[in-house]
Amino acid sequence: MTTQTILVTGGAGFIGSHTCVALAEAGYEPLILDNLGNSDRRVIGRLERIIGKAPRLIVGDVRDRALLDRVFRETPISGVIHFAGLKAVGDSVADPITYYDNNVNGSFVLAAAMHAAGVQTLIFSSSATVYGDPDRSPIPETAALRPANPYGHSKRMVEQALADLQHAHPAWRIALLRYFNPVGAHESGLIGEHPQGKPNNLMPFVSQVAVGLRERLAVHGGDYPTPDGTGVRDYVHVMDLAEGHVAALRHAEKQPGLTTLNLGTGHGASVLEVVKAFERASGQPIAYDVGPRRPGDVPAYWGDPTLAEATLGWRARRGLDQMCADSWRWQQGNPNGYE
Ligand code: NAD
Ligand code: UD1
Repeated sequence: MTTQTILVTGGAGFIGSHTCVALAEAGYEPLILDNLGNSDRRVIGRLERIIGKAPRLIVGDVRDRALLDRVFRETPISGVIHFAGLKAVGDSVADPITYYDNNVNGSFVLAAAMHAAGVQTLIFSSSATVYGDPDRSPIPETAALRPANPYGHSKRMVEQALADLQHAHPAWRIALLRYFNPVGAHESGLIGEHPQGKPNNLMPFVSQVAVGLRERLAVHGGDYPTPDGTGVRDYVHVMDLAEGHVAALRHAEKQPGLTTLNLGTGHGASVLEVVKAFERASGQPIAYDVGPRRPGDVPAYWGDPTLAEATLGWRARRGLDQMCADSWRWQQGNPNGYE
C-alpha cells in the first residue's frame, strides 16, 4: 500500500507537531503547511529525531489560495488536518478582524481549495470554548453553543460553515474536534509548547515557575464554588489529543459524514491540584499567591468524552501526573523553546 499524505496546516505548532508524530507512527506521511507566525522551523529537526524522517515543511499561509492550489496539484493528498489559526482569547477581543481573517477566512480558503482539488476529508481543530459558560459538566456535544469572545465565535462560525458544506456535498468526511485544555509534551522531551512572552495558560506558567524563569504563579481566584475555591478544567495530554486526530481520520476514511466530538478526559482538576501534581513531577516547589479572579473566566467545566470513545474507540489514557512529568521534561531541557 502506498503511504497516504496528510496535509497538516499549523503542523509546526504545539498540537500540530505532536499530531505529526502520531500520524507518522500510524503510517501516514505528514506534510506541514505553516506560516511560522507562532512556531519555529527548528521543530522539524526535532520531529526527525522522533520519527526518523524529517516531515516536509511548506512555509506559507492558509489564506494563500494560489499556494494551496499548487500544493494540491503537486502532491496527492488524501486528507487535511486543519490546526492553523490564532488562539489567544485576549488578542481576539482587541483585534477581532485579524482573528476572523486567520481563523474563519483561512478555513474558507482551505475548504474551497480542497473542494476544487477533490480532497474531501477534513479534521478541524475546534475548541471547548464554543460552549462558553456551560449549564453543567460534564459537557455533552449537544450542549448549547454560547462562545463569549471573538476567538470562540470564529470556531463556532467555522463549525457551522463546515456542517453546511458537508450537507451540500454529502461525500465530504468532516470531523469537528472540540479540545478541552491541551497540556503536556511528547515523552521524549524534544517537542512541546513554548508560548511567546508571558504565558496566559496555567501549565506553561507553572512550568516556567518550576524552572526558575518566573518567580510566582498568580492563582486567578480562590473563591469559586469548587472544592478548593480555584478554577477547574479538563486538562488533556497533547499526545492523547494527537492520537485522537488519527482515530478521527481513520473514522472519516470509513464513511462520509460530519462528526462533532469532545476530546477531553471527562475529569476536572483545580489550579491547586495542578500545582501539587507539578511539584510532585518536578521536585520543585511552586510559589504562588491567590489573587483576584481573571475577568471572563468560567469557574469550572469538563467534557463528556463518551461519544468520542463510542465513535472512535479513543480515550485519553494519560493522567495529570504524566502531563506534568512530560511538561517538566520539555521545559527543563528547553527553557528557551527551540532556541
Ligand atoms: P499553535 O499556535 O502552537 O499552532 C498553530 C500553528 O498555526 C502555528 O504554528 C502558527 O504559526 C500557524 N498558523 C497560524 N495562522 C496561520 C495561517 N494563517 N497560515 C498558516 N499557518 C498559520 O496553537 P495550538 O495550541 O497548536 O493550536 C492549534 C489549533 O488548535 C488552533 O486552531 C487552536 O485554535 C486550536 N485549539 C487550541 C487549544 C489550546 O489550548 N492549545 C485549545 C482548543 C483549540
Ligand atoms: C483558556 C482560554 C480558552 C482556551 C484554553 C486553552 C480564556 C478566557 N480562555 O482557557 O479559550 O480554549 O485556554 O487551553 O483565556 N490560571 C491561573 N493562573 C494563571 C493562568 C491560569 O490561576 O496564570 C487558572 C485560570 O483561572 C483557570 C485555569 O488556571 O482556572 C486554566 O487557565 P488557562 O490555562 O488559561 O485555560 P482556560 O481558562 O480554561
